[in-house]
Amino acid sequence: MSKAISGFSKRTKDEKIDWLASEVLPDFKDFKSTLHQYWNANKALQALHDDFVENTISNFYLPFAVAPNFLIDGKKYVVPMAIEESSVVAGASMVAKFWSKRGGFKTTVISTVKTGQVHFIYIGAKADLEAYFNQIKPKLFSATSSLTKNMQQRGGGISAIELRDKTASLKNYYQLHVSFDTKDSMGANFINSCLEKMAETFKSESATLNIKIVMSILSNYVPDCLVRAEVSCPVTELYHENALENAQKFIEAVKIAKVEPYRAVTHNKGIMNGVDAVVIATGNDFRAIEAGVHAYASRSGTYQSLSDAEIKDGRFKFWIELPLAVGTVGGLTALHPLAKIALALLQNPSAKELMAIIAAAGLAQNFAALRALTTKGIQHGHMKMHFTNLLASLKTSPSEKEQLRLLFKDKTINYAAVNEALLAIRKQKNTL
Ligand code: MEV
Repeated sequence: MSKAISGFSKRTKDEKIDWLASEVLPDFKDFKSTLHQYWNANKALQALHDDFVENTISNFYLPFAVAPNFLIDGKKYVVPMAIEESSVVAGASMVAKFWSKRGGFKTTVISTVKTGQVHFIYIGAKADLEAYFNQIKPKLFSATSSLTKNMQQRGGGISAIELRDKTASLKNYYQLHVSFDTKDSMGANFINSCLEKMAETFKSESATLNIKIVMSILSNYVPDCLVRAEVSCPVTELYHENALENAQKFIEAVKIAKVEPYRAVTHNKGIMNGVDAVVIATGNDFRAIEAGVHAYASRSGTYQSLSDAEIKDGRFKFWIELPLAVGTVGGLTALHPLAKIALALLQNPSAKELMAIIAAAGLAQNFAALRALTTKGIQHGHMKMHFTNLLASLKTSPSEKEQLRLLFKDKTINYAAVNEALLAIRKQKNTL
C-alpha cells in the first residue's frame, strides 16, 4: 500500500471492502466473510448505521446489558450499559442491589450550565474593546434569536455573554465566554451554531477595531453542569465481618486516590466504567464526557479522585461529584434504536435525571472496585468473569466448559493453565 487512495469515500461499501481485501489485508483469512457476518440482515437498519459515519464497512458490536435494582432518589431503575469489560455489569448489579437495601442513591443536580467560546485576537486598547462589547452585546443575543427561539420555548437558551481578557496567558487573546442552558438536549450543535452566528456579528460590526476571530466552539469542560450522588449507611451494615476495620480501609483507599495521581487515574477509570457504559447505551458522547470529567478531576492542579468517603458518627458516607453534559433528546438518542430502548428502560428521563443515573452508576462501580480491592483483591471477581472470555477464546465446547469450570473452581485462573487442562481433556477424549 504505497500511494494515497483518492475518492475512497465515493466508492460503494463492497468496492471499499474489495480494495481493503486486495490492497491492505490480502492474507487475512475470512476478512470479507467476517465483516459480512456483522452486517445486519435488515437493510434499512444497516443503512441507518452505515450513515452514522463515513466509510462504514461493518458494525462493531458491544454487549448491551442491564443492571437491575438501582434505587435512585426513591425510584427504581434498570440501568442499561453498553460495555465489553467482563466484570462491570456484574459489579453494578451487585452494588445496586446492596444499596437498594440501604436507602439507595441520593442525588442532587447542582447546576446545568454549558459553555461555549468565541476565541479571538484583538490588537488595540482594552477600553475600546470593552466599550464595543457593551454596545454590541444586545445584538449578539438578537443575532441568534432564530436559533434560540425553540430552545427558549423549552426554558433554555443563552444565559450570559461575557468578554474575557486572556492576554495574561496569551498575547492579544480575548474571548466571548457564553453560558447556555440546553435543557434536555446535549446541545452541541445548538451551541456551536449560536457561537458561529455571534462571532459573525461580533466581527462584522466591529468596523475600526482590529479583531480576528480564531474559532467558535463549545467547551467540553463543564464544571457548572454538575451532579452529586451519594450512598450512606451505618458502618455496621457495610460488611458482614470486621465492619469498622474494612470501612476504614475503604476510606484510606479513597484518601490515597486523593493524593496519588497514579492511583487516582485508575480509581477514576473504574468510575468511568460505569459512567461510559450508560453514556454509550443512551446514545451520548462518551469522548466529551471523558474529557470533561478528567479535566474536572484535575481542577485543583493535581489529578484527584472524583469520589469521597467518610465515617462520621458511626455512619459511612460515600459520594461523587461529576460534570456531565448529557442529553435525552436529539442527536443519536433519537436515531439509534437501542439508545431509544435504553432511554425507555430508564423511563424516558430528563437530562437532569440521566445525570443522576449516570453518577449513581459511576459511584456504584467505584464502590464495587474499592470494596473488592480492600478485601479479597480485584482478581478474585475479575478472573471469574475473565474465565468466560478465556473459555470462549479457546473455542471450548459446552461439555469442555463444564469440565474446566469444575476443574478451576478453587484454582487460580490463567491462560496457560486453562489451555493445558483443555489439551489434557481433549487428549483423554481422543484416547477413549
Ligand atoms: C478496572 O477496569 C477498574 C479498576 O482498576 C478500578 C480501580 O482500581 O479502582 C478495578
